[in-house]
Amino acid sequence: MAYPEFLKIVEVGPRDGLQNEQRKVPLADKIALVDRLAAAGLPAVEAGAFVSPKWVPQMADSAAVLAGIDRRPGVAYPVLVPNLKGLEAALAAEVREIAVFGAASESFSKKNLGRSIAESLEMFAPVIETARDKGLAVRGYVSCVLGCPYEGEIDPGAVAEVARWLRERGCYEISLGDTIGTGNPKSARRLIETVARDIPISELAVHFHDTYGMAIANIHATLEMGIGVADAAVAGLGGCPYAKGATGNVATEDVVYLCQGLGIETGVDLDKLVASGRFVSEVLGRAPASRVNRALSAKMAQGSC
Ligand code: HMG
Ligand code: MG
Repeated sequence: MAYPEFLKIVEVGPRDGLQNEQRKVPLADKIALVDRLAAAGLPAVEAGAFVSPKWVPQMADSAAVLAGIDRRPGVAYPVLVPNLKGLEAALAAEVREIAVFGAASESFSKKNLGRSIAESLEMFAPVIETARDKGLAVRGYVSCVLGCPYEGEIDPGAVAEVARWLRERGCYEISLGDTIGTGNPKSARRLIETVARDIPISELAVHFHDTYGMAIANIHATLEMGIGVADAAVAGLGGCPYAKGATGNVATEDVVYLCQGLGIETGVDLDKLVASGRFVSEVLGRAPASRVNRALSAKMAQGSC
C-alpha cells in the first residue's frame, strides 16, 4: 500500500515524556517546551494530565501549564483525564480536548488506574459523555497493546474490544499504545489488521515506545498500512511510572526525518524541533535520546547544516 501524503504527529513529550521524571521540572520550562513544540509546527501538543497528584506528581501543575502557554490557533492542546474530578479541572483550565486512557491488560489497568478494565471504562463513560456535551473532543488511548509488563503478550482481540468500546462512546480517534515497546513490525501489523476490522484506519493512531529500538520500524510498517496519525515525544522523552523498565516514546525528530525521506508531509520544521529537543534535554541534564537530534545537532555545531 502507498504511504499517506500527510502524517499527523501528536506530540506527547510534555505529558508522556515528562510524567516519569523524578525531579520536578520547572513550570516555566514546561510552558516553554509546549510553546516551542507548537511553534515548530506540531498540530497537537499534549500539554498535561489532570490525574491524581498522588499517582503522578510531575503532572500536578498541568492547570498552570495550560494557563501559561501561548495557545496558537489551529493547534490542539489535549490533556489526559481519567475521571470527573479531572474533567472539572480540565474544563476550568479551558481545555478543548481530552484523552481517556484505558488498557488492554487487566494487571496494567489495576496498576495505572487502580481498577479493572471494566471498572475503568465505567469511570470513563460519564467523562466522555460530559466532555462531549460540553463540546470537547475526546481521544481514547489503549495501553499495553503489544505487551504488558505484568502479563506478557496481549491478545489483539482484547485490544480491539477496548478500542471498540471507546469509539462507540464517542472517542474520535483511538491511539494504540505499545507502552513497553516490545512490539515489532509483524506484531504491529497484526494488531492494526485486527483492530481495523471494526474501526476505520483513519480513526486509529499509533503510539510506540522505543525500549527495544523497534519504534521507527513499527511506524514505517503501519504507515504502509495507511496509518495517518502517530504519537511521538521530542528527544525521545518518556516512560510510564506504572511500566518499570519501559523507555521513552519514539522521538519526534526521528519520525519527522523518516517522513522527509519517504516524501510524507508533517508540517513540522525539523530545525526548530531539534532545538526544542536540545532545550528540554538541557533542562533534564542529559543528551537527547533521538539519534536524529544528536546527528543534526552535531552537524549544526560544526557549522555544516
Ligand atoms: P484513586 O486513588 O482510586 O482515586 O485513583 P480516588 O477517587 O480514590 O481519589 C484519591 C485521591 O486522589 C483523592 O484525594 C482525590 O481527590 C484525588 P484525597 O482525598 O486523598 O486528598 N484525585 C484527584 N486529584 C486530582 N485530579 C484527579 C483526581 N482524581 C482523584 N483527576 C485515579 C484513581 C484514576 C485518579 C488514579 O489512578 C490516577 O490518577 N491514575 C493516573 C495514572 C497515570 O496518569 N498514569 C500515566 C498515564 S497512562 C500512560 O502513560 C499510557 C499512555 O501514554 C499510552 C501508552 O504509553 O501506552 C496513555
Ligand atoms: Mg505512552
